[in-house]
Amino acid sequence: MAKLEVVVLAAGQGTRMKSNRPKVLHRLGGKPLLAHVVDAAKSIGAYRIHVVYGHGGDQVRAEFAGVDINWVLQDQQNGTGHAVRMAMPNVDDDSTVLVLFGDVPLINTETLKRAVEIADSGSVSVVTTLLDNPLGYGRILRGASGNVLAIREQKDASPDEQAIKEINSGIKAAPSELLKKWLDALQPNNAQGELYLTDIVESANNDDVTVEAVLVEDTAEVTGVNDRAQLASLERVYQSRKVHQLMVNGASVADPTRVDVRGNVVVGQDVFIDVNVIFEGEVTIGDDCTIGPNCVIRESSIGAGTHVHANSLVDGASVGEGVSIGPFARLRPETNLGRGVKIGNFVEVKKANFSDGAKANHLTYVGDSDIGARVNIGAGTITCNYDGANKHRTVIGDDAFIGSGTELVAPVTVGAGATIGAGSTIGSDAPAQQLTLTRVKQRSVKGWKRPVKKK
Ligand code: UD1
Ligand code: CA
Repeated sequence: MAKLEVVVLAAGQGTRMKSNRPKVLHRLGGKPLLAHVVDAAKSIGAYRIHVVYGHGGDQVRAEFAGVDINWVLQDQQNGTGHAVRMAMPNVDDDSTVLVLFGDVPLINTETLKRAVEIADSGSVSVVTTLLDNPLGYGRILRGASGNVLAIREQKDASPDEQAIKEINSGIKAAPSELLKKWLDALQPNNAQGELYLTDIVESANNDDVTVEAVLVEDTAEVTGVNDRAQLASLERVYQSRKVHQLMVNGASVADPTRVDVRGNVVVGQDVFIDVNVIFEGEVTIGDDCTIGPNCVIRESSIGAGTHVHANSLVDGASVGEGVSIGPFARLRPETNLGRGVKIGNFVEVKKANFSDGAKANHLTYVGDSDIGARVNIGAGTITCNYDGANKHRTVIGDDAFIGSGTELVAPVTVGAGATIGAGSTIGSDAPAQQLTLTRVKQRSVKGWKRPVKKK
């Protein structure tokens, strides 16, 4: 089998997006359109990936820094044939070349494999689909045996040709050496005065090389993004696939149209996902978890049997088994929660470790802290971790009890089994097993009168 080299066309302006950002950097499922295409190329074992870029090229290259891509600048967009030609000096003669479009993100790898197999055997393949309304696309002209004879662009098509509903997706594969020869011979003798990649089909036929169509049924697979409405409709297709996969893997979903996956989610069995949940980045959810409505779960792992209640944000957290989070909780990066931890409503946690069974049930901020096992943090407790210049840690030993409304001025340590009286401001270490409190003595003023409003 020949080496596979993939040429991705991504130099187009994308004018209809009405955007300062190059079209291929617009996101689908949280990932740039071009990344979907590059990932597809990788998944079929591309030996080299060439991306032809133009408009906004620096932004595109910056976004893909660190990805192994051969970047090819196409200064002027003289057509799809010109674009592929620009890449060919870097492509070996004995390779198979697959041409993809950077703005066609949902292409299926099985389809690409079929297209590449045909080219590996010395023929040319073009990926096509049937459209009820083929307006604007290149039409597929087939011969008696079903082979493709030519592709006719909308602007060059006769009325008979315009009636054809089979269209060119743009995706093609061909043996490198032949492709180079045909590309070199391209002429801009068409309505748009461009070098058309589609003209290689006629060249192939002239050289007695067969051109086979790979007809795909699911048009979304080959749909390109030209404007934001098309982007949104492909997003829905993508999301329905992603959510379907969650269900296949054992999650029940209250409404498949109201869960979005912008990344990868690994779910255990018997997980329940309520409406308006968004997953971002790499997320793992163990067996028997419930994710309540309106939650965002980002770059986190959640242990089995955990319940994330409504309206919670879990970001960059490692959550143990049997934990209860929310409603209205916010876990920020570097939060680690042990088994059976409870983080209640309006509690914010950042860079903190909660050991097994620790609780912060109401209206609390815990940052830069190590919380021992079974610690109970009362309502309205604040770790004052920031002195205006630096962050400091709060350390609380096992079984400590922090009374409501306590301020823990870090760096500070509360010993194991200590009790902090409600409303205290703790700026020095509190010893283990003792009651520590800073409360001022309560007093009452006899005969005190409330002020009255002046007439
Ligand atoms: C092209 C096809 C048409 C097909 C349609 C599918 C040709 C001549 N026509 O038409 O048969 O039905 O795609 O969407 O191939 N690009 C460059 N450099 C260029 C021109 C284009 O990189 O100079 C890139 C674009 O960024 C885009 C892709 O090639 O990703 C297709 O370009 P576009 O202008 O959309 O092609 P169409 O005219 O729509
Ligand atoms: Ca197009």
